[in-house]
Amino acid sequence: MADIEVAREGRVQIIRFNRADKKNAITRAMYKTMADALVAADGDESIGASLMLGQPDVFTSGNDLADFMAVAMGSEHGGEVGEYLKAIATGTKPLVAAVDGLAVGVGCTTLMHCDLVYASPRAWMQTPFVDLGLVPEAGSSLIAPRLMGHQRAFALLVMGERFSAEQAQQAGLVNVVVASDDLEAHAMGAAERLASKPPEALAISRKLIRGDRDEIVARILEESEHFKGRLKSDEARNAFMAFMQKKAK
Ligand code: COA
Repeated sequence: MADIEVAREGRVQIIRFNRADKKNAITRAMYKTMADALVAADGDESIGASLMLGQPDVFTSGNDLADFMAVAMGSEHGGEVGEYLKAIATGTKPLVAAVDGLAVGVGCTTLMHCDLVYASPRAWMQTPFVDLGLVPEAGSSLIAPRLMGHQRAFALLVMGERFSAEQAQQAGLVNVVVASDDLEAHAMGAAERLASKPPEALAISRKLIRGDRDEIVARILEESEHFKGRLKSDEARNAFMAFMQKKAK
C-alpha cells in the first residue's frame, strides 16, 4: 500500500494518508505524491474538489522527523515540501479536510489552506515548531493571526499549545465537529456538494474569498528560508536527537 493513496469518487479527488504505523508522518516522497495529485486536479476539469483524509485517530504527525534529522546532519533539503506548500496555497480547486485524532505540525498548518475542515471530538492540533528549534511554516505566521487573532496564533505557533477540536473550531480552524464514525461521510458529502456547483462561479468566488495568494506565497518562502537555516541549528539537532533517543528507549 502506498503511504499516500490518491483515489477518485465521482468528481471528488481523495488524498489519504496511509502510514498509520508512523502516525502518518510525511516523508519527502509523500509530499511529492500529494503535490503532484493537487497539481493534476487543477488541470482536470472532471475534478471539482479535493478531500484530504487520514486514518482512525490520526490525521498526520507532520513532517517525518527522520527526514528533518537527515537535513540537520547535512543532506539536501529537497524541493518536495515547497512543491506541496505551493500546491495547497495556490491550487484552484476547493480543498476539504476531515481530521480524526492528531494533526501536528504541517498536519495542522495544512488546515489553514483548506476551505472546509471537519474534525471529530477526539481531534487535536499542535505545532511544536519552536520547541523543535524551528519556526512556523506553510504561511501560518501570516494566516493564523488573521484567522484567530494574535494571542491564539501565538499560543498555537509559539507556545505549542494543543488545541482540542472545540478550541480549533472556536479559533476558526474547523467548521464543524462531527462524531468520528460520521466524519468521513460528512466531509465527503460537503466535497461532493462543492464539486457539483457551477465550476466557474465556484472558482471565482473561491478566488475572491481567499484573496491575495502572492502575499502568502512570499511568506511561505520567507518562512522557508528561516526554516532551512533552523534545521541545521544546534537547537533543532538536539530536539531531533531527543525524539530519536526517546524512541530508542
Ligand atoms: N516523524 C517520524 N516518525 C514519527 C513521527 C514523525 N513526525 N511521529 C510519529 N512517528 C513514529 C514514532 O517514532 C513511532 O515509531 P516507532 O513505532 O518506529 O517507534 C510511531 O510513529 C508511533 O509514534 P509514537 O510516538 O509512539 O506515538 P504516540 O501516540 O505516543 O505519540 C505523537 C504521537 C504525534 C505525539 C508523537 O509521535 C510525536 O510527538 N511525534 C512527532 C511530531 C512532530 O514533532 N512533528 C513535526 C512537527 S514540525
